[in-house]
Amino acid sequence: MIPMALPAPDAAASEHSARVRQAVVEAIAGGGGFLPFDRYMEIVLYAPGLGYYAAGAAKFGRGGDFVTAPELSPVFGRCVAATVADVLAALGGGAVLELGAGSGRLACDVLTALAARGALPERYEILEVSADLRDRQAASLATLPAALRDRVVWRDGLPAAGFRGVILGNEVADALPVRRFRRTAAGVVELGVGLGADGAFAWASRPADEDLARAVAGIEVDLGRPLDDGYESEVCAVLPAFVASLADVLEAGLLLLVDYGYGRREYYDAARRGGTLTCFYRHRVHADPFLLPGLQDLTAWVDFTQVATAAVDGGLELIGYTTQAQYLLDAGFAAAVADVTQSLDGIPRLNALAAAQTLVLAGEMGERFKCLALARGVAPTVGFRGRDFSARL
Ligand SMILES: C[S@@+](CC[C@H](N)C(=O)[O-])C[C@H]1O[C@@H](n2cnc3c(N)ncnc32)[C@H](O)[C@@H]1O
Repeated sequence: MIPMALPAPDAAASEHSARVRQAVVEAIAGGGGFLPFDRYMEIVLYAPGLGYYAAGAAKFGRGGDFVTAPELSPVFGRCVAATVADVLAALGGGAVLELGAGSGRLACDVLTALAARGALPERYEILEVSADLRDRQAASLATLPAALRDRVVWRDGLPAAGFRGVILGNEVADALPVRRFRRTAAGVVELGVGLGADGAFAWASRPADEDLARAVAGIEVDLGRPLDDGYESEVCAVLPAFVASLADVLEAGLLLLVDYGYGRREYYDAARRGGTLTCFYRHRVHADPFLLPGLQDLTAWVDFTQVATAAVDGGLELIGYTTQAQYLLDAGFAAAVADVTQSLDGIPRLNALAAAQTLVLAGEMGERFKCLALARGVAPTVGFRGRDFSARL
């Protein structure tokens, strides 16, 4: 049932969601009545032809469910391009590899800004798990001049090794499936999906397996205290291996990740006792992951300590960890705003200014979003000369 505050889907979307639901029901049955939450996320977000990212929902922008920084304003891509140009200059060339490129907006903006600087990369590679999004990215990038779009290549997997340049991911780590747990006095419990008496999805639980129990124990060691009885949260089991594989392929250059998240102590703060799982449906934010499977986005905030630790273990050097506002202000925000608004007048100008402001305002994206820079063989500075919050990692 859709709560009154959420807009109802049309008949085709409802039918699609019913098919996704059926796939989940089968997976629950296949698991003896319990589906781990990360498996649930994999199905409802990524199952081919079914999942939110794998099927045709609008997703991004005003007609979709959420707005990301590149969708909001070209200022974001211009600032990212300043960091990319800094790295490519230090390396004497190189490529860009964008992870999870969404609608292709960031790729268009970065390439356009790099061309204006005379600093185009040798290639702009995109690693995208969703076939539907690849098609959309191709359509966006087709609007660029040939000298830019001809540099774009899609990859099915990471390069084997020897990548030189910048690996870039905006709001990708938050889209990875997470495991959910509850700490109890008796031990750690895994939370997953089962079927209630009415046949609807319902939270189910079972004792945590060794991996999950070890992950929660590691969190408690880092916090220096046990989590409270009844504390629920998430842990992204695949994130360390994901980051390690990026560190492996990066022979020289920068790994730049932007996302909403915290250092570990803030992430597992005692006050955040319900976790960080967040659901987006038509620009409404709510907390019911079982609503309209396949039609809404599910995300969890990123534990940046987990990311930085995996990257440093993989041989990368921590360059900086700061807020999106600090990053953008240092990477040329003011000049980029002047540039993108100079040809605009009246309401379009005010709208463009307001959108750019949203990127940096503390109550909007400015402080919730963090930028983490890790590098090998170079020490880029653009974007990281302002306040640094690495001590929070
Ligand atoms: C929230 S969207 C962000 C899109 C875009 N970066 C933006 O900022 O608008 C998450 C993106 O990550 C992609 N994604 C999810 N898991 C991925 C993975 N393991 N490797 C690469 N991309 C992935 C999704 O398909 C989607 O394009």
